[in-house]
Amino acid sequence: MTNDKRYHITTFGCQMNKADSERMAGILEEMGFQFSEDPNDADLILYNTCTIRDNAEQKVYSYLGRQAKRKQEHPELTLIVAGCVAQQEGESLMRRVPELDLVMGPQHANRLRDLLEQVFDGNQVVATEPIHIVEDITKPRRDSTVTAWVNVIYGCNERCTYCVVPSVRGVEQSRTPEAIRAEIEILAAQGYKEITLLGQNIDAYGRDLPGTKPDGSHLHTFTDLLYYIHDIPGIERIRFATSHPRYFTERLIRACAELPKVCEHFHIPFQSGDNQLLKAMARGYTHEKYRRIIDLIRNYVPDAAISADAIVGFPGETEEQFQNTLRLVADIGFDQLNTAAYSPRPGTPAALWDNQVSEEVKADRLQRLNHLVATTAAARSERYFNRIEEVLVEDQNPKNPAQVMGRTRSNRLTFCDGDINQLKGELVRVKITDVRAFSLTGERI
Ligand code: SAH
Ligand code: SF4
Ligand code: F3S
Repeated sequence: MTNDKRYHITTFGCQMNKADSERMAGILEEMGFQFSEDPNDADLILYNTCTIRDNAEQKVYSYLGRQAKRKQEHPELTLIVAGCVAQQEGESLMRRVPELDLVMGPQHANRLRDLLEQVFDGNQVVATEPIHIVEDITKPRRDSTVTAWVNVIYGCNERCTYCVVPSVRGVEQSRTPEAIRAEIEILAAQGYKEITLLGQNIDAYGRDLPGTKPDGSHLHTFTDLLYYIHDIPGIERIRFATSHPRYFTERLIRACAELPKVCEHFHIPFQSGDNQLLKAMARGYTHEKYRRIIDLIRNYVPDAAISADAIVGFPGETEEQFQNTLRLVADIGFDQLNTAAYSPRPGTPAALWDNQVSEEVKADRLQRLNHLVATTAAARSERYFNRIEEVLVEDQNPKNPAQVMGRTRSNRLTFCDGDINQLKGELVRVKITDVRAFSLTGERI
């Protein structure tokens, strides 16, 4: 079924938003819409938004302003804001941009068809009330044919003092192991080779599902889920993100070491290397505990790649406390680190504190941290030189059509010569000949 109408989606923010966008695109295609790369060619435009930092939010407003103007000349254009800015701003977004037809929070992504039907009946719709997320029965329009996201838990019950996620994504809601397994079986049948299990705090998986084990612990845990889905034929690699140091268990590390499809990569944000700041952030662990987790990982999986997120310039951060973050980064030797300057967010406790760090100091610390990260990542890359790595080919190298690109099990982006038509979705063995901080080049053998 087609309806001659075209849709465009621009996605901001994290993997959760990317996964939500793929499901919303699937719903639109089921309704007969065709994808349009160019928003100016589309009859329906959906911005799936992020509000984690102020600059992410401002970007949305500039995109939106342009399309609101276009709508004044083309009133039949349908304009939608979904995602975390939509949830945060709700009605007030509708007042600020009256051209909008639909403002919908992340929990409503799977309800897009219902909401659009209300819009096509002539209503302006705001859908931001907390709901039980409906199990997805549509077929997502996935960006890749090789790797796929699979949500396992939505929302977050933590209360990190800087973070908007709990207020925009709502409380934790785990999908059942059966629904997750069924989705992965379909992916395998479609030829997908790699899945990434997604949750803001994936270690929390199962806490909200009914049932207890004989010893009184939760019946379903993330570790159990890994065992439960591991044997699905066709799926060659399993990844997961994001892990929270507070809940990370030795049992999970052991499962990763034991289960051959689970890749040797751990993404465990630490945010700060200073105990006082970790306390002010309400993270629930110390830098010593974080270091113990990494030691444990390296005991079981010596070659594991470790990545994380960190914030500089959190309220009250002194130069000395920042140095503790630098020290942690240097000691651990991260393969990759996502860094950000602290951004005060509406409705979060830390935004109201009177000990904010100046923008100049934040920018300076960010630069110093990024410099160190480039150095540690380059040092970590060295170990791949001359090694043979398994790479799952995902795409052509956009800068060199004679090359393909993919990732090692440890998640390093890797390039090698080859024809994408022959190699897409294949696991190839690559001898690494060239190492850079965040990527590798090699020869297929
Ligand atoms: N659930 C994950 C992270 C989700 S948000 C976790 O707990 O680690 C992704 C990252 O954005 C965070 O790890 C943090 O480093 C960063 N972040 C969140 N709020 C921020 C803020 N107000 N300012 C700057 N960075 C922020
Ligand atoms: Fe935000 Fe903390 Fe939840 Fe991560 S664990 S999403 S940083 S509140
Ligand atoms: Fe952004 Fe929402 Fe993700 S705020 S980082 S898109 S959960």
